[in-house]
Parts: sequence; C-alpha cells; structure tokens
Amino acid sequence: MSGESAKPSFLIGKSINLRPFSRDDIPTLTRWINDPEVRVFLTATLPQTEQQEEEWFNKLGSDDKNIVLAIETKEGKLIGSMGIHSINWRDRTATTGALIGEKEYWGRGYGTDAKMVLLDYAFNTLNLHKICSAVIAYNRRSLQYSLHCGYKVEGRRRKHIFKKGKYWDLIELGLFRKEWLPLWRRYRSTCKMR
Ligand SMILES: CC(C)(COP(=O)(O)OP(=O)(O)OC[C@H]1O[C@@H](n2cnc3c(N)ncnc32)[C@H](O)[C@@H]1OP(=O)(O)O)[C@@H](O)C(=O)NCCC(=O)NCCS
Repeated sequence: MSGESAKPSFLIGKSINLRPFSRDDIPTLTRWINDPEVRVFLTATLPQTEQQEEEWFNKLGSDDKNIVLAIETKEGKLIGSMGIHSINWRDRTATTGALIGEKEYWGRGYGTDAKMVLLDYAFNTLNLHKICSAVIAYNRRSLQYSLHCGYKVEGRRRKHIFKKGKYWDLIELGLFRKEWLPLWRRYRSTCKMR
C-alpha cells in the first residue's frame, strides 16, 4: 500500500482527502465520540455504543439532506469526520459540522483544508446558496478555522448550551458563496488561506 489509503477518495484537498465512511471505521468513530477531550466541543452529551454508531452508519446515504465524509491524511490515516447537514433544497441552505478525533492533528491546518474542499462541493456542485454553522463560545479553535474559511458571525444565542457546569453562548455563523469565492481562489492558487 506504500502508505496510500486503499479506500476511494471523494474530494481531494491539499493535505487531506474526504472519502465515504466504511464499516471498519466504526470502532474509531466510537472512540472519538466518547473521548471527553473531544466531546467537550460537541453538543452531544450521551455515551455512544458501537452499536449506535453502526445504526448511524447504516443510515448514511439514505436521504438527500445529510452528507458525511471521513477526513483522511494523504498517508491514508483516518483523522476525522466532516459533513453537510439539514440541506434545505428550496432555500438552498445547509449547516456544516466537523470533528477531528485524532487530537494530535488539531491545529495543523487539516480542518481548514477539509472545510474548503467541502465548501467547494457544497457551493460549486450542490449549488447551495448559504452554509451555516454554530460554535460553543469557548471553542476558539473551531471559531478561528471557520473565520479562516470565510464564515461571518451572525449572532450569539446567549447562554444556550450547558457544558462544564455552566451555560455558554452559542455563536451562529453563516457564509454565502460570493463571500467564499475569493478565499477559494486564493486557496487554490497559493495553498495559503491568509
Ligand atoms: C474544530 C476543528 C475541526 C478544526 O480543525 P483544525 O485542523 O484543528 O483547525 P486548523 O488547524 O485548520 O485551524 C485552527 C486555527 O485555530 C487556531 N487555534 C488553535 N488552537 C486555538 C486556541 N486554543 N485558541 C484560538 N485559536 C486556536 C490555530 O492556530 C488555527 O489558526 P491559525 O492557522 O491562524 O494559526 C478541530 O480542531 C476539531 O475537530 N476539534 C474538536 C471538535 C470540534 O471542536 N468540532 C467542531 C465543533 S463546532
């Protein structure tokens, strides 16, 4: 295999590829979603069994409102998950969600790379008009990478999420294709986002 993934890629980034999940990814997904250092950043709070993850996996691709892909390094290591959710085909809006479960890969640009190619798919293939996201106020890394990808803060839901023994604001973000296009051109031509 010479370090290359044997699994088919769907979207190609500079440092990562996005590919469909396969059944043998389920134990890794279960490890990530239960990891206290990861789930502190997510709205999910309950423990997840491998069986629940399998049920989730079995539903993938069963509707046209949710698209979830695995994030893999160019060496073929599975490091995370990224998706387009709640697609509204009339208004052409959707939300995105992301999770890099392998913590040593945080803050190394993989999330930004994955999000940019996912946004290319959302805007230039699916013809969506606006993509939204939401971040718990203490998740500075997620806010930062979302801003790098062009999202704008649209508002704060005050004291909306209960985590770590207190209420936190939820920061609502939104991004239009025309706002994102200049960043995409720069990303493609220079590899640099900023
Ligand atoms: C959020 C997530 C997908 C971002 O992916 P990533 O690969 O870590 O992000 P990137 O490296 O592309 O960008 C992160 C940016 O935040 C900065 N950053 C990292 N830690 C930070 C911190 N504690 N405070 C502020 N900024 C921080 C990085 O320096 C980088 O910005 P820079 O390039 O200007 O230096 C990933 O960290 C993750 O999955 N985290 C855990 C789960 C999660 O938070 N999911 C999102 C829920 S909304």
